[in-house]
Amino acid sequence: SSAANFLNAADTDYAQVKAREVGWAALKAVRQELGNVYLPLIDGKYVETTETVTSVNPSNFSEVVGKIGLISIEQADMALAAAKAAFPGWRKTPAKVRGDILRKAADLMENRRAELSAWVCLEVGKALREADAEVSEAIDFCRYYALEMERLERGYSYDIAGENNRYIYQPRGIALVISPWNFPLAIATGMVVAALAAGNCTLLKPAETSSVITAKLTEILVEAGIPKGVFQYVPGKGSQVGAYMVKHPDVHLIAFTGSQEVGCRIYADAAILQPGQKHLKRVIAEMGGKNGIIVDESADLDQAVAGVVQSAFGYSGQKCSACSRAIVVESVYDAFVMRLVEATRSLNIGLAEDPGTKVGPVIDGKARDRILDYIEKGRTEAEVALEMPVPDTGYFVSPTIFSNVSPDGKIAQEEIFGPVIAVIRVKDFQEALKVANGTNFALTGGLYSRTPSHITQASAEFEVGNLYINRTITGAIVARQPFGGFKLSGVGSKAGGSDYLLQFLEPRVVTENI
Ligand code: SER
Repeated sequence: SSAANFLNAADTDYAQVKAREVGWAALKAVRQELGNVYLPLIDGKYVETTETVTSVNPSNFSEVVGKIGLISIEQADMALAAAKAAFPGWRKTPAKVRGDILRKAADLMENRRAELSAWVCLEVGKALREADAEVSEAIDFCRYYALEMERLERGYSYDIAGENNRYIYQPRGIALVISPWNFPLAIATGMVVAALAAGNCTLLKPAETSSVITAKLTEILVEAGIPKGVFQYVPGKGSQVGAYMVKHPDVHLIAFTGSQEVGCRIYADAAILQPGQKHLKRVIAEMGGKNGIIVDESADLDQAVAGVVQSAFGYSGQKCSACSRAIVVESVYDAFVMRLVEATRSLNIGLAEDPGTKVGPVIDGKARDRILDYIEKGRTEAEVALEMPVPDTGYFVSPTIFSNVSPDGKIAQEEIFGPVIAVIRVKDFQEALKVANGTNFALTGGLYSRTPSHITQASAEFEVGNLYINRTITGAIVARQPFGGFKLSGVGSKAGGSDYLLQFLEPRVVTENI
């Protein structure tokens, strides 16, 4: 299979002085470009808009990262018409040629790695090391889906004597990608290049708070040689222009990553057949999680504490894969909570760009207020085991640990998407598994255990798309841990895996009597 031959891009080794210097220099260079205006790309041209949105640095909200033009409904129509016009040509382009454009984009990303990491760091408040891992993931998506499409293009033969049967794939048509801010480069790139590799003309509508980094992705795709109309950058208000495009009869497929609320609305809107529409839309939606890590009596507590801290508080808990529940058996509960509190207390909270920072800001004021509301709710439901002081230059929220949380409590059930963890005490492993499965979500989960029967049982019964045993539960790698969940965590198969592109394609069979 192609996955077996696939080589993942290597992250930067910031232990090297040279790499740190390159990183700082890139931050400095990017700072010189802050505040620039970025325009939508429609039919190969950057177009003026009447509305703009301002993207600020969440670590320091007085710093404007950029201003982005927002498209109107008329411009959405123009983009859809351009995509329609470009489709016959793109659909006929061999997978190898499409793939070469994406591989070129990957090389450009590799050349601009430090700069892209700096943009991610400043626009969404992600520590440089994690921003750098995102660049690696974006590169992997380009190369992996390019390779995957070459495999699928060969199709299958089911020939018998006197009859040839060819099983082939064709693109669906126009793909609308609605990307999130939390992996502003990696996830946007993944959905876009999957759609493009498969031969679909693709429109990218990013989350407003990550419009600058997606404008950089647009520059890269253009430089890599993507034909006009084939890829278009269409930032706009989600509730207006986004909803309009979702409902448009010319759209065949919507790839979305974001909240459960928006994902469910897209799924419903896309299901309604519009006048003139001659197909049903495919929706791929990757939504939230309420991911739990089980710690049983046989767990290595050093490992478990470090893994929970990293999974819960990395990027301030704003990964859909983040741990927001620790489910701990009673014989190790007190020791675990004490050590979790002490380990978390040692985390530096600060600007995302500072090399010593472990916990940066959250994305914006709305997110901060929502998380703080949950923390207030938590106080009425459970005990606060840790809160810490935070800077006030940006949208900071303290890493917060609640102990003795009831499995049915709001903070144990609802996705908070911030640096908040609910620690739940259970009698034994069997109860732990029941509590772990007792949510609407099924995205990631973890188990710290040295008991083979528990590991076997969790593998079979822990209802999550990605289960991690004795390690952190974030940071899935393309072609190694294909990523995605089920239940209310999403619909569709796994990003970075060998089924993913099938969702962007229509299979056909041609039978010839010979
Ligand atoms: N793929 C990311 C992770 O595994 C989440 O979107 O952390």
